Amino acid sequence: MDILPLTGSLGAEIIGADVRRAEDFDTIFAAFAKYSVIVLRGQTITPDDHLAFARRFGPINVNRFFKPVDGYPEIATVLKEKDQKAAVGEDWHTDHSYDQVPALGSILHAIEVPPVGGDTLFVSMGAAYEALSSVMRGFLENLTAVHSSRHVFGVTTSDSEAARTGRLGNAEAATQDARHPVVLTHPLSGRRGLYVNPVFTTHIEGLSEAGSAVVLSALYRHCQKPEFQCRVRWQPGDITIWDNRATWHKAINDYHGYRRLMHRVTVEGVPLAGVLAA
Ligand code: SIN
Repeated sequence: MDILPLTGSLGAEIIGADVRRAEDFDTIFAAFAKYSVIVLRGQTITPDDHLAFARRFGPINVNRFFKPVDGYPEIATVLKEKDQKAAVGEDWHTDHSYDQVPALGSILHAIEVPPVGGDTLFVSMGAAYEALSSVMRGFLENLTAVHSSRHVFGVTTSDSEAARTGRLGNAEAATQDARHPVVLTHPLSGRRGLYVNPVFTTHIEGLSEAGSAVVLSALYRHCQKPEFQCRVRWQPGDITIWDNRATWHKAINDYHGYRRLMHRVTVEGVPLAGVLAA
């Protein structure tokens, strides 16, 4: 197998791997721990193969809000039909940060993609953290942020296009709020990284509402620098795995008039530790 880094900050493509082969997993996992985003091209898999591959990482975390694949409640459908406007996941976010124990990672399998567009962008939260001044890092290191599913998947969002078209549902289950360190020590690599995101983080504790908003918006601007990013261009059959404790991602919504269908499996994580616990 050959491992080809995608950018200087994160991401790698592994050539010659087959997610169905148990003997390939150690190499895939080591690359995942190092690069945070792993792309595996042209995988010929069934939904059962997808689940079996995910279980090598750990137990499956069943998403409460995405429409499941028929007959596979553990696989979420990430879909935009050609007549729909909004893409699920089109704003920068970290999957499941609203859970007390956020997901380790997500495994996305491309089933149908537009002829051009529909790429996914990723950010290295370790690189973003390391590029902050030492004063800013020191300020952030002992802070805690609150994350929530309510304003994204809850009943107040029931008139969104994604809810009306059945792509998202189960709004009454959006009751998760969680507190996490603003700077975490990564459970696999020990690397420090920012752990706040524009979609699910509601505020930083201990700051005024206005102060929290100023700090978060400055961090969000900083994190979006191209220097911290990589981009995945999809073909049907491709699989990308990303580490939710080390990255943000965003589905680029630039393919109106075409259908894009992905299957996503999310893997359970571990409780997050801040800097002092390192
Ligand atoms: C997601 O946000 O999990 C989906 C990303 C994508 O569709 O590219």
